[in-house]
Amino acid sequence: MNIAIVGTGYVGLVSGACFSEVGVDVTCVDIDRKKIEGLRKGVIPIYEPGLSELVSRNTAAGRLHFADSLGEVIDNVEIVFCAVGTPPDEDGAADLHYVLDVAREFARSIKKHTMLVIKSTVPVGTSELVRAAVKSELEQRGCPDMPFELASNPEFLKEGAAIKDFMSPDRVVIGIESEEGRRLMERLYRPFLLNNFRVMFMDLPSAEMTKYAANAMLATRISFMNEIANLCEKTGADVNAVRTAMGADARIGKKFLYPGCGYGGSCFPKDVRALIRTGRENDCRMQVIEAVEAVNEEQKGIIFRKIEKLFGGDVRDRVIAVWGLAFKPETDDMRCAPSLVVIEKLLAAGAKVRVYDPVAMDECRRRIGDTVEYASDMYSAVEGADALALLTEWKQFRLPDWGRVASMMRGSDIVDGRNIYERSDLEPRGLRLHAIGRP
Ligand SMILES: NC(=O)c1ccc[n+]([C@@H]2O[C@H](COP(=O)([O-])OP(=O)(O)OC[C@H]3O[C@@H](n4cnc5c(N)ncnc54)[C@H](O)[C@@H]3O)[C@@H](O)[C@H]2O)c1
Repeated sequence: MNIAIVGTGYVGLVSGACFSEVGVDVTCVDIDRKKIEGLRKGVIPIYEPGLSELVSRNTAAGRLHFADSLGEVIDNVEIVFCAVGTPPDEDGAADLHYVLDVAREFARSIKKHTMLVIKSTVPVGTSELVRAAVKSELEQRGCPDMPFELASNPEFLKEGAAIKDFMSPDRVVIGIESEEGRRLMERLYRPFLLNNFRVMFMDLPSAEMTKYAANAMLATRISFMNEIANLCEKTGADVNAVRTAMGADARIGKKFLYPGCGYGGSCFPKDVRALIRTGRENDCRMQVIEAVEAVNEEQKGIIFRKIEKLFGGDVRDRVIAVWGLAFKPETDDMRCAPSLVVIEKLLAAGAKVRVYDPVAMDECRRRIGDTVEYASDMYSAVEGADALALLTEWKQFRLPDWGRVASMMRGSDIVDGRNIYERSDLEPRGLRLHAIGRP
């Protein structure tokens, strides 16, 4: 089977590498020529565990190729996946211009029946916009009867565990319109689901909506727990005990009940906003989701407020060490990362910030340049610091040498934005723990 994947970012590159791993001939296409040239030489543009090995193995085996235009490869493929970005525009709606560019490029290139599968996260109804764009381009080309088919196949992988998620998905959601299309997609996904075939076929709008509903539900759990944590803190309850006992209820389950400094990343914030926007456009206010977003925005300020309080409201010239910049562990992605909010507020209030992250240092430099100091390792970050804030729960931060930290810091306050530390580990070293939702 031959396919092309347009958009070689987190989703496109992981999907392409995983499809090629099971024997599909895949060409990953991107308009970013530098990225494609790099990939041809084995340079992986993102950090994702296991991806580099997967890409080099399948490139060497001749099953994974890279191109900078769809036109070059379309003759040989049965399916074109669209995995380009759908960033938020100024008013929160998903910006669809990359997706529609791909639709037009697809229409300009096809010479036989080809399927266009939208893997990008797009608001319900986008397939119809894509269909209209393809048809109008085909008419302009003078071949209005060129056959094509559309499908929607939203992606649920998590950065940091993307390969595992793609290789053994909880489920694959496919919006489809024909029996032939269904058979083609079944064939493509069967290798990932040999033991338990969990492809769920539905109509296109339902597939598009499923992705937003799923992300909004996960974001809701996080904002809900952040509110519970904030109330625990005021009332003397310990959110860790509450969370564990809540999660033991099979109806609730234990995942996504962790309070912290707010959700970030490339998906939840933008997808929540886009869903609110879709609601408004359809005269259907999404009140729960609006509250989820408002709570999250508030929560992103919690670390700064805690630090400010430690110093009587004045952090000027205080040195604050930050462990963790990526929006979550095992990725270098800093899109909408809470760390950016914390750092911005600290700098605006006159603090000096020294940061360390195992993989996101270059990404941080690219975003905020030399406004902060970059430490060479986690311990040199705390040298002479008045307080330390943990913002990403990378494994290497989980059991630090607290004696060493205490001897290097000027102050003694540890602000744990991910609730991973225990008071009993810190107090014997003379350190004070400030967690979220814990007395
Ligand atoms: N990142 C995730 O964890 C994740 C998970 C599930 C779904 N998604 C969704 O998948 C989509 C892609 O996300 P991502 O994080 O991989 O994005 P990304 O920004 O990492 O990558 C997008 C790529 O598309 C390329 N591109 C843009 N226009 C193009 C065009 N016309 N032709 C060819 N290439 C083009 C860009 O150069 C870029 O390399 C988004 O809709 C996102 O919401 C992302």
